[in-house]
Amino acid sequence: MSEVFDTTASKSEVYYPSQEVVDNIAHPDYMELRENARRRPLDFWEEQARKLVDWYEPFTQVLDDGNRPFFKWYTGGKINIVHNALDRHIKSWRKNKLALIWEAEDGEQRTYSYFKLWREVNRFANILKSMGVKRGDTVTIYMGRVPELPIAMMATAKIGAIHSVVYGGFSEQALADRIEDAQSKVVVTCDGAWLRGKTVNLKDIVDEAIHRSPVVQRVIVLKRTGQDINMVADRDFWWHELAALPIAGPYCDTEPMDAEDPLFILYTSGTTGKPKGLIHTVGGYQVFIAATLQYAFDIKEEDRYWCAADPGWITGHSYIVYAPLILGMTSFMYEGAPGYPYPDRWWSLAEKYSINILYTAPTAIRGLMRFGDAWPSRHDLSSLRILGTVGEPINPEAWRWYYTVIGKERCPIIDTWWQTETGGFMITPTPLIPLKPGSATLPFPGIDADVVREDGSSCESNEDGYLVIKQPWPGMARTIWGDPHRYVQTYWSDFEKQGWYFSGDSARKDEDGYFWVIGRMDDVIKVSGYRLGTAEVESALVSHRTVAEAACIGVPDELRGHVIHAFCILTAGVNGDAALVDELKNHVRHEVGPIAVPAAIEFVDSLPKTRSGKIMRRLLKAKVMGQPVGDTSTLEG
Ligand code: WTA
Repeated sequence: MSEVFDTTASKSEVYYPSQEVVDNIAHPDYMELRENARRRPLDFWEEQARKLVDWYEPFTQVLDDGNRPFFKWYTGGKINIVHNALDRHIKSWRKNKLALIWEAEDGEQRTYSYFKLWREVNRFANILKSMGVKRGDTVTIYMGRVPELPIAMMATAKIGAIHSVVYGGFSEQALADRIEDAQSKVVVTCDGAWLRGKTVNLKDIVDEAIHRSPVVQRVIVLKRTGQDINMVADRDFWWHELAALPIAGPYCDTEPMDAEDPLFILYTSGTTGKPKGLIHTVGGYQVFIAATLQYAFDIKEEDRYWCAADPGWITGHSYIVYAPLILGMTSFMYEGAPGYPYPDRWWSLAEKYSINILYTAPTAIRGLMRFGDAWPSRHDLSSLRILGTVGEPINPEAWRWYYTVIGKERCPIIDTWWQTETGGFMITPTPLIPLKPGSATLPFPGIDADVVREDGSSCESNEDGYLVIKQPWPGMARTIWGDPHRYVQTYWSDFEKQGWYFSGDSARKDEDGYFWVIGRMDDVIKVSGYRLGTAEVESALVSHRTVAEAACIGVPDELRGHVIHAFCILTAGVNGDAALVDELKNHVRHEVGPIAVPAAIEFVDSLPKTRSGKIMRRLLKAKVMGQPVGDTSTLEG
């Protein structure tokens, strides 16, 4: 299928590391490591686990593969991620090093040393305990991009509970579904969040979600915007009022966990309307994210690092919150949108905070590129050393702009391919690897990735196929919360015979073994890098009284990667006019969230279906894009 972006044209375009990069590399042994890991992957993962994190009790086995595909890593080991992210640094010289620098949309600034962050986490851990949260309980966190979000996550992990962060851009039904599935008795939220100078009323959304999913007993509310909200007596409590009570002392023991205990649930979209709660565990996850960040971004002790994702998605969990803290780094976090209130806000932040590593998504790069080169050119961006990207294939045009205009041809672009399910980077360059715009280059050490045909045979060079992972890795999601069968079905059934993990992506490998990810093969759409399931949007549409049936597809878009195009069959007698289109868009915004709003809604009399009743989205897509419809032999008669 031809997409708007040509991600394949630039195979002969290769960018070699500059002498400056080679001379300054912190981890020059990467290629050797890759080669050793290829021969002995378990030795590699054992070494990383010993080197990067501390264990209360050592593990007795690196990998337990006795019950495939339910792999276990570092069994017998006792560990807590907050011990490695905070506690241990307090006992070292890093105690007074900056852990986090935060800037609000309005320019307010806050800094947290490791010591200060540790105390805040301890306080909030004590608050959670006082609310009755115990080891193994789930806590749903629904907030804007504020430091209290990582604080709430780590406080939960510290006492051995399981966090479920719901992205602050989701709305009522999406939040209610996630609270219900996780059975969270406690929700942590804000009164509101700032976005482009306006406030989003998060607490109202929480109230409505609880109305739909009444399992919640306690809500802790951070005052961020100061707007008027409804507080329910004996259920809702202000964070700052709790923090002033004697129960919120600054010391709290960290709970030693088994390596395979769940650390968090993170919901992601799949092919059915019900979101999948992926489970990541305490031990393997932390080893994997620390190792991948350290090598791929060639981390140095003095780095100022900015991962511009939202903590509510996996990129934020792994690479804003946990991995940088485990590695003892200084991170920067910005509350607002990239181009707000002016197009060079980001570049002024990069200059002001002297950022060395910037990690973002192609959609943000394309958005900023649109404003023109004059905006970044006003700023001294010479502190930048490494640039990263994630979330969707980066089109070579955006790559080149990022490389030349932002990185001044000095900074390698680290294009990281991975997923919520993989926990961390799977295919990625490091600064030493020659780059090709649009390719995530080569698998990380110890990762056995390949592109294969339906029968499992490896594809030829440049042949499209299924992107699979042939060996387990420590950061892999262990299961789907409450639904192990779906986990097996979704990821392990396509190549069941071989026992391989199927990513859901199509890709090709070129003659140098470089991976070129093409995109999703299932009903998942990446809108501005956010992952959405067609089914979620469809069920929101049919929950409106006028819609009898709906089908959604992803259509390529120059700015957002893909946008949603919806087809609706209306109930008898309803008139499909422009006012109804607006009403339906509003409805989706309300139920799922602004990111899920279709760019176009088309009213139709019928939808193409197979004889077994499955909607043929492929045909709808071909129609929208003006392409030949191909084989329609299974179409309903
Ligand atoms: C896509 C985000 C091409 C891919 C960390 C994958 C990418 C999905 C890249 C996972 C990349 C992510 N190049 N495609 N560098 N990174 N993807 O779970 O389709 O939100 O399957 O995780 O994003 O999205 P998720």
